[in-house]
Amino acid sequence: MSHALPTGSHLRYEDHRLQLEAVDLGALAVQYGTPLFVYSKSAMLEALGAYQTGFKGRKAQICYAMKANSSLAILQVFAQAGCGFDIVSAGELARALAAGADPQTIIFSGVGKTRAEMWAALSAGIGCFNVESVAELDVLNDVALSFGERAPISLRVNPDVDPKTHPYISTGLKGNKFGIAHDEVIDTYKKAASYPGLRVVGIDCHIGSQITDSEPYLDAADRMLDLVDAIEAAGIALHHLDFGGGLGIDYAGDTPPSADALWAQLFAKLDARGYGDRQIMIEPGRSLVGNAGVCLTEVLYLKPGEDKNFCIVDAAMNDLPRPTLYQAYHSIVPVAIDGTTPPVTCDVVGPICESGDWLGRDRTLAVKAGDHLAVLSAGAYSMSMASNYNSRNRPAELLVEGDTHHLIRERDRTEEQWANERLL
Ligand code: LLP
Repeated sequence: MSHALPTGSHLRYEDHRLQLEAVDLGALAVQYGTPLFVYSKSAMLEALGAYQTGFKGRKAQICYAMKANSSLAILQVFAQAGCGFDIVSAGELARALAAGADPQTIIFSGVGKTRAEMWAALSAGIGCFNVESVAELDVLNDVALSFGERAPISLRVNPDVDPKTHPYISTGLKGNKFGIAHDEVIDTYKKAASYPGLRVVGIDCHIGSQITDSEPYLDAADRMLDLVDAIEAAGIALHHLDFGGGLGIDYAGDTPPSADALWAQLFAKLDARGYGDRQIMIEPGRSLVGNAGVCLTEVLYLKPGEDKNFCIVDAAMNDLPRPTLYQAYHSIVPVAIDGTTPPVTCDVVGPICESGDWLGRDRTLAVKAGDHLAVLSAGAYSMSMASNYNSRNRPAELLVEGDTHHLIRERDRTEEQWANERLL
């Protein structure tokens, strides 16, 4: 059986054993136990490199949307490579700073920033607040006045463009909770420009995630540039244009445009409309880390059934929530191919007491108890969304670099799970 490995993952089989860069994944599973996340530094830097190629000769700042994977060493790799960060909470702010981020390159997104979070971000000296409502504008003005500085802001505009992705991760349509409605943008900019506690610096939009087509981006860019024309005609200058994140990755033969190809198209549009030399910002998350990571898991039991066969593994929906939450597809491949075990079609499921605890459905796998599997494309929205449900310890994480690896997070310890709890 052959197993397709996703584009940009730096995975390959050598002598029927799965390698990440030059490291044998089976050996890591034995050494550190499972479930275990393993990331490739080269895959991350290569994904970043595609954006950097697309931005060559332009004024652009890449702000990694750290919600995709906020482990400190991952942030450190991106900070050292010149990235800023797109944050959505005081916790993410603290993490970015701990990883060595330059505060000026941090932008703060999200519909529900608290006063305390605004204060923390002003104290850190972040580059921009991406404001999502008039009510938030009022509160930020108030907080900034008591802080004694003008808060740099951009308004997140809702371009009302369909990104053609899963409804839970599409954000730029009228019915979404995100952004300022297209028709209200000019009035809201006028209001923002009149506030003594605010300084208008930009405009931003983000239409959704796992977008595999250029078209929604190009449409959103047109809609946003129409707004820029009108805002600047009203006498409000915009220093930067932020196009958000959202570029998809290859989970199951998906063919999203490469970042440099997408940006060639976007710059053609920006040039044609006279905005080619403007400061550009972007907020990619998944496309920088998604295919740089795998989750290794051990097969615990094979359970043949009348209707279905089950392959019960030691990773579960608490470690890898995307299948349960979004019916997302992740490839699952053996870590070693032995060539003698007969293949079966089965659902790959975890030990959690819910029928929704599945990682893959109707997969054909030639495995037996004790074998290791790799759940692919697990670098984004996996560990960062993992929980301790069923009092399970979240996995350890490793970063591979060439033929070496670094432990970047130890597996949770059970006592830590209840460290903040009190018996009566
Ligand atoms: N900027 C903003 C304002 C966002 O809300 C997001 C993601 C991004 C940037 C980064 O988007 P990306 O480049 O990663 O697509 N948990 C879901 C994805 C949620 C995305 C939330 N916002 C999943 O696992 O598919």
